[in-house]
Amino acid sequence: MGISWSIFMIKLMLMLTGLTTASLHSQTYIIHMDHSQKPDHFYNHESWHQHTFKSLSSGCPHDDKQAFLYSYTHVMHGFSAKLTSCQLTELEKSPAHVTTYKETFGKMFTTHTPKFLGLNRGSGIWPTASYGKDVIIGIIDTGIWPESESFNDKGMPEVPSRWKGKCENGTAFSPSLCNNKLIGARSFGKGLQAAGVNISAEYDFESARDWMGHGTHTSSTAGGNYVYGASHFGYAKGVAKGVAPRAHLAMYKVLWSSDTDESAATDILAGMDQAISDGVDIMSLSIGLDHTPLFEDVIAIASLSAIEKGIVVVCAAGNDGPASSTIYNGAPWIMTVGAGTMDRSYIATLELGNGMNFEGISYFPTSVLITDTPLYYGSNDTKKAGCLFLIPSEVKGKVVLCDESNLDLNEQMSVAVSAGAYGAIFLSESLFLDPEDYSIPGILLHTRYAKEIKEYARNGNNTIVKSMRFVITKTGTRPAPQVAYFSSRGPDPITPNVLKPDILAPGVDVLGAVRPDVPFMEAGDYDLLTDYALYSGTSMAAPHVAGVAALVKAVHRDWSPAAVRSAMITTTIKTDNVGGTIRDQWNGVVATPLEFGAGHVNPNRAMDPGLIYDIGPQDYINFLCGLGYTAKQMSTVLRTSQWSCENRTDLNYPSFIANFSNQATSQSEMHFTRTVKNVGDDASTYRAVIKVPTGMTVNVEPDTLRFTDKYQEQNFVLSVQIDKHSPSVKYGYLEWIDEHNHTVSSPIVVI
Ligand SMILES: *[C@@H]1O[C@H](CO)[C@@H](O)[C@H](O)[C@H]1NC(C)=O
Ligand SMILES: *[C@@H]1O[C@H](CO)[C@@H](O)[C@H](O)[C@H]1NC(C)=O
Ligand SMILES: *[C@@H]1O[C@H](CO)[C@@H](O)[C@H](O)[C@H]1NC(C)=O
Ligand SMILES: *[C@@H]1O[C@H](CO)[C@@H](O)[C@H](O)[C@H]1NC(C)=O
Ligand SMILES: *[C@@H]1O[C@H](CO)[C@@H](O)[C@H](O)[C@H]1NC(C)=O
Ligand SMILES: *[C@@H]1O[C@H](CO)[C@@H](O)[C@H](O)[C@H]1NC(C)=O
Ligand SMILES: *[C@@H]1O[C@H](CO)[C@@H](O)[C@H](O)[C@H]1NC(C)=O
Repeated sequence: MGISWSIFMIKLMLMLTGLTTASLHSQTYIIHMDHSQKPDHFYNHESWHQHTFKSLSSGCPHDDKQAFLYSYTHVMHGFSAKLTSCQLTELEKSPAHVTTYKETFGKMFTTHTPKFLGLNRGSGIWPTASYGKDVIIGIIDTGIWPESESFNDKGMPEVPSRWKGKCENGTAFSPSLCNNKLIGARSFGKGLQAAGVNISAEYDFESARDWMGHGTHTSSTAGGNYVYGASHFGYAKGVAKGVAPRAHLAMYKVLWSSDTDESAATDILAGMDQAISDGVDIMSLSIGLDHTPLFEDVIAIASLSAIEKGIVVVCAAGNDGPASSTIYNGAPWIMTVGAGTMDRSYIATLELGNGMNFEGISYFPTSVLITDTPLYYGSNDTKKAGCLFLIPSEVKGKVVLCDESNLDLNEQMSVAVSAGAYGAIFLSESLFLDPEDYSIPGILLHTRYAKEIKEYARNGNNTIVKSMRFVITKTGTRPAPQVAYFSSRGPDPITPNVLKPDILAPGVDVLGAVRPDVPFMEAGDYDLLTDYALYSGTSMAAPHVAGVAALVKAVHRDWSPAAVRSAMITTTIKTDNVGGTIRDQWNGVVATPLEFGAGHVNPNRAMDPGLIYDIGPQDYINFLCGLGYTAKQMSTVLRTSQWSCENRTDLNYPSFIANFSNQATSQSEMHFTRTVKNVGDDASTYRAVIKVPTGMTVNVEPDTLRFTDKYQEQNFVLSVQIDKHSPSVKYGYLEWIDEHNHTVSSPIVVI
């Protein structure tokens, strides 16, 4: 069973897609209610919701599929239930009814890391933040494997007294499995079950226990404890630890393994509602729903509610790159995270019979040594040469050389495996094999070596592979970081006038805890197990940023979610380890803020940003007012019928994006108003430094900001002019630099 399971697991990309509901008669709906209409005699909102639901059936034909699912109090005001259309019509007549949505469904987005982030024990944010002590990170995911070493509570402080969460009992999960590290674990599956999806024993645990391993991995990345000697079959060996190793973790399982692999919006809402009520400080979601306007996006609505309560919400940007406008979770109150590579690679070495040596990518899970083995190359036949098909009698026991062909590498690997090849060499410029695809000793070589290797393979008589060695971990890979080829790119399709993604964090080959009792992969006739594995995805990037947010929050308890985000955005790293601008892994070309946002997260500097661009609830309301929503759409997003629009719709975001094609033809200048708050030294003077390419002019007024006190605020106006005939995306930076060495940097993008 192992292989298909693990492939599916790695490729978890939680995107919500439509699913036809099982019952023709009743369907699941999310019902927004106006809580100001609750009659006083109801003890609480839930009893009012329940009563409203029960009183519906009277006039309508009976349908025993109807069911009340969840009552929501924080993420929105309302409930979810399975209703017939007759019941829905009746309900919509109620003056307390605001909006109805149909259920939607989603699928998932799928230790060296702390060192790469510049975190160390001696100085910086780790000791200053006491490693995230007393901060609670809520992970909305597939569950957790509580026995994993990453969740041991050695050295952990007591559970904070404000914590209201709990560990639910359920299948293979007893409350005693929680401790001072894992302080909460709950699961939400009613919505999926109401849609007719079977989540019983054959597919998943009916509890917070993790079937797929994804939630275990993200949790260990954000806040796992120290684990010595962790590795992926010997690769990436070292101390595995979360970004905030002293933070507490709480799991909210809303993603289930099932025959259809779905998660229901009703369940996601319920998990987020509970996380808010339990008292998490940070929420991390590696999930996305379909692109919808904000008033239909339940993750966006629930996140706004969380932000109003001071909770930082961090979401994966999605894995739909390298195409543009593929961002998920781009609501302007969410911290939207793209994935970058790290400076570490997993390699094998190859020596041919003629003494030539090569180094390529490999994740073959054991350190076999191949020596003096015949090399096969089907040079005469393009199908054989490209490993589209191979004849067993020709390749058995040999190392097969596979040219770049129109088959995916994992299919070439399957062809080689079924033909009985002993090993394989793949030539490719831009394709990748997932770690679990290395079921025979394989090495992936860049096509720049193709000529030499093929010449040897084609012309020799007894061509051999002199040696191949595996399980080599190399650090200092250059250039790094790069934007991962799969990372979703801006502009945001829903709110293109806010720059997304916000930031880049490690999301390629991230070592994290996994489910230890099911095979990660197959090799030969064997199923291979592991406690830690390398996963890739923006799913892995988001929990890194959640961990950094926990550290920033531990240092600055009173900062708003927007302040925490601003601190991270304005202190990023924009260059790679060869000193150039961060590049795109897809094509090797220099990337832009539409791919990497403000840049790569830099925890030590985020602790002391100097200035912050703060945003409060009213600013988000003003922003929404500017989108031209109807009153009903506004009240759906804001969860209240009482709001007022102020004049200023330009969100105080720490980045700038100007769409000139958006404007009347005559316009060639755009203005942005911003307010910055001094959170550095009392007296400081910031000067604006503008870095822009030709064809773009930026002015800042005033260009000097003098602060005499901490928390003092100052305004400025930034104007962007472009040469209208200059093509394509252009970008530059505004930097505010003071005499105490603070640099507050914001990208300025013109599209
Ligand atoms: C905990 O859940 C298991 C599995 O659902 C059940 O067998 C057991 O009785 C439950 N224990 C308690 C104390 O509820
Ligand atoms: C769910 O799956 C289990 C195991 O295959 C089966 O026994 C059960 O009948 C199924 N339930 C439903 C509602 O289909
Ligand atoms: C390639 O084709 C030639 C001519 O058909 C044949 O003599 C030779 O053996 C072939 N080589 C391989 C490796 O199949
Ligand atoms: C292959 O071996 C034969 C016999 O030893 C020799 O004549 C021929 O030149 C060799 N071919 C190549 C390409 O080395
Ligand atoms: C409100 O906005 C309009 C148009 O942008 C502007 O003319 C007016 O001065 C603003 N009013 C206030 C009070 O800022
Ligand atoms: C920019 O504006 C043009 C014209 O209104 C519009 O068609 C385009 O979609 C906008 N681009 C983005 C990324 O919003
Ligand atoms: C400013 O910071 C940089 C980078 O941390 C450091 O190299 C430099 O010495 C600092 N300069 C001052 C004046 O503190």
